[in-house]
Amino acid sequence: MIQEKIVEALKNKSGYISGEEISARLKVSRQALWKHIQELRDLGYDIVAVPHLGYQLVSLPDRLFISEVSYSLNTKFLGKKIHYFESAASTMDLAIQLGMQGEPEGTLVIAETQTKGRGRLGRSWLSPKHKGIYLSLILKPKILPAQSPVVTLLVSISICEAIKEVTGLDAKIKWPNDIFIQNKKLGGILTELNAEMDEIHFMVIGIGLNVNNDKNSLLPSATSLKELKKEQISRVSLTQEMLRRIEKDYLSFQKQGSLPVVNKWRNYNITLGRRVKIACQREHLEGQAVDIDTDGGLLIRDDSGLIRKIMTGDIVHCR
Ligand code: BTN
Repeated sequence: MIQEKIVEALKNKSGYISGEEISARLKVSRQALWKHIQELRDLGYDIVAVPHLGYQLVSLPDRLFISEVSYSLNTKFLGKKIHYFESAASTMDLAIQLGMQGEPEGTLVIAETQTKGRGRLGRSWLSPKHKGIYLSLILKPKILPAQSPVVTLLVSISICEAIKEVTGLDAKIKWPNDIFIQNKKLGGILTELNAEMDEIHFMVIGIGLNVNNDKNSLLPSATSLKELKKEQISRVSLTQEMLRRIEKDYLSFQKQGSLPVVNKWRNYNITLGRRVKIACQREHLEGQAVDIDTDGGLLIRDDSGLIRKIMTGDIVHCR
């Protein structure tokens, strides 16, 4: 797209770039260029124009435009194809549809807001516009469906690492893959599978993160990066860093299997060693969370000393 090329030309020049140069390079008339610059300004690009000097890009919009997320992303396959929506019901539904149409591994669906964002266990996911990161990605791991929870674990680790890199904050994981900081929920991951008994056709991994959400739009049990850092965080940088790390960690998982993932997860988790209660299961289970299995299951020692394994559900950390 011509507008993307104009932005690229502006980004590649630290000072001013003349209209003449851009017009010649992109083969557009000066008049058309002016129109495109106006449109870019409407999208939130702050571009100054000075007679005889030309144009300069002063600041970028805080939008997860394809051109911004892809710029210098440098991944091999993750985010090579991005579908961007100002608003969507849920990026999960769109990614599932795309997966069924045969979209390649690594395809990403990003929305600036969701009207029916969903979380695990039938909950909804608040998705205020331009505040959080709401995205779903398509993966096609060559593993059995029963091993798929490990992919979700690895994504949660990659997210914690990306948060550390971009903000310096130490994010932790509540089993199985809720992202927590200072005992408040910052984000979550929802995984949906299109699979048969012994084969995954594709996996859709949905990530929801509270980034620039203001306190008054957050549940009391939730927090956002802006709340914690007291400053606006670049959603583009964080999205890019997450994608880079997810790709790297996913590629090593495919080579080395689940053991390194589970070992790394132990370093980030805030569940092991705690007394936990399982909500959302027909039978009531309470005990000590003792370990995580190589398939991602949580091992709990109940009060009779019996070790029980749970694969899904919601746990409550007891005091
Ligand atoms: C959870 O903690 O319960 C998981 C929340 C997952 C939310 C994300 S936002 C992007 C994607 N689209 C959705 O509808 N849900 C996931």
